[in-house]
Amino acid sequence: MNPMRALNISIVGATGAVGAELTKLLEVSRIPVNRLRLLASRNSAGRQVRFRDETCFVEPLDEIGDLETDIAFLCGGGAVSAEWASRFAAQGALVIDNSNAFRMNPDVPLVVPQVNPSALSHRPRPGIVANPNCSTIQLVRAVRPLVTAWDVRQIIVTTYQAASGAGRMGIDKLRNGTRAVLEGSSEPSAAPFPVSLAFNVIPQVGEIDSEGVTLEELKLAQEARKILAMPDLRLTSTCVRVPVENGHSEAVYIEFEEPVRLGHVHELLAQEAGVWLYADGIRKEYPTPRFITNLEDVHVGRVRVNPQNPRGLWLWIVADNLQVGAALNALLIAQLAIANRVIGER
Ligand SMILES: NC(=O)c1ccc[n+]([C@@H]2O[C@H](COP(=O)([O-])OP(=O)(O)OC[C@H]3O[C@@H](n4cnc5c(N)ncnc54)[C@H](OP(=O)(O)O)[C@@H]3O)[C@@H](O)[C@H]2O)c1
Repeated sequence: MNPMRALNISIVGATGAVGAELTKLLEVSRIPVNRLRLLASRNSAGRQVRFRDETCFVEPLDEIGDLETDIAFLCGGGAVSAEWASRFAAQGALVIDNSNAFRMNPDVPLVVPQVNPSALSHRPRPGIVANPNCSTIQLVRAVRPLVTAWDVRQIIVTTYQAASGAGRMGIDKLRNGTRAVLEGSSEPSAAPFPVSLAFNVIPQVGEIDSEGVTLEELKLAQEARKILAMPDLRLTSTCVRVPVENGHSEAVYIEFEEPVRLGHVHELLAQEAGVWLYADGIRKEYPTPRFITNLEDVHVGRVRVNPQNPRGLWLWIVADNLQVGAALNALLIAQLAIANRVIGER
C-alpha cells in the first residue's frame, strides 16, 4: 500500500452482522484511520464499540448533518443504500456498498479484488463501488482459474446458505427456533425466513419472481457474468437456506467444452491465491462450514470429474459469508482503491 494520510471512514449499519465484522477487520488492518464514524438506526444510538484503544459511539444515520468522509461502507441494506449512497458520494466519499442496490448498474464496478481488480483502476463516475452477493464472491474466487483455462458450456450450482446470510436477525431466529423445537414450545414467527429454519432446509433465498426464480438465484448468475466478464455465461442455480449459523456451502457442477484432467484442475486450484484446496478426496477430507479455519480463504473439496462425462467437474466450495462474502471483500476493495490512488488523492 502507498504511504498516505490517515482516512476518515464511516460504517453505516455498524451494529449489523456485516458491519460489526467489518469494524473488527478494519481494526486489525493496516489502513490508517483518522476518524471512524459508526452509524446505524436510532435504536442503536449511543452504543459503544472499542476501536484501536478508543471508544466509538454509534450515531443515528438520519440525525448526522455532515456526511464528509473518505470512505463510506454501506452495510444497512438495500433501502438505506438507495437513499444514502449518492449523498455520501456527493460529499466526496468513495462508497463501498454491500447491498444489491447498485450491483448491476453499468457505471458501478462490481469488484472481487482477487478476480477483477482492474475494474477499480479509476474512480468510478458515481463514486460508488459495489460489493457482490456473498454466494457470488466465493463462487467466482474458486472457479476463476478454471473458467480462464477452459471454455465453459454451463455451470450448475446448489447453495447451502447459513442463517447469518439473513443478518443478525437470521442468527437469532435460528438459535431461538432451535431452542423452541427442543423445548417443545412454539416459535412466534419464522421471519426473516419464509418457514422455520430450525431442523429444516428451505429452497428459497429472497423473493420468487414470476418465472419461479429467486432473487438470490438471479443475482448469482448476473453478478458472476459481470465479475468474470463472461456476458454469455450459462449459470443456473437452486439457492437453499440451511440450519447452519455461519458459512455458506455450494455444490458446483461445471461442464466444459472439452475433457478436463483432474491433476490439471488440482494444479490450477492449488496455485490460486486465497483458495484452500482439499485435494485428497480418497481420505474423505473436505471443508464443512462449522469447522473451517483461515476464514479469509475459499475452501474447495470433493473435486472430481464426472465418471459419465469427462467434460464435467464437481466442486464443493465453502466460505465464511460474513467475511469472504461481505466484510473482507469490502475491506479488500478499500485497500485496492488506496493502492490505485482512487482515494486519498482528493
Ligand atoms: N449477512 C451476510 O452474509 C451478507 C453478505 C453479503 C452482503 N450482505 C448485505 O450487507 C448488508 C447488511 O447485512 P447484515 O446481514 O449485516 O444485516 P443486519 O445484521 O440486519 O444489519 C443491518 C444494519 O443496518 C442498520 N440499519 C437498518 N435500518 C437502518 C436505517 N434506516 N438507518 C441506518 N441504519 C439502519 C441496522 O442498525 P440497527 O442495529 O440500529 O437496527 C444494522 O446495523 C445487506 O445489504 C445485506 O444484503 C450481507
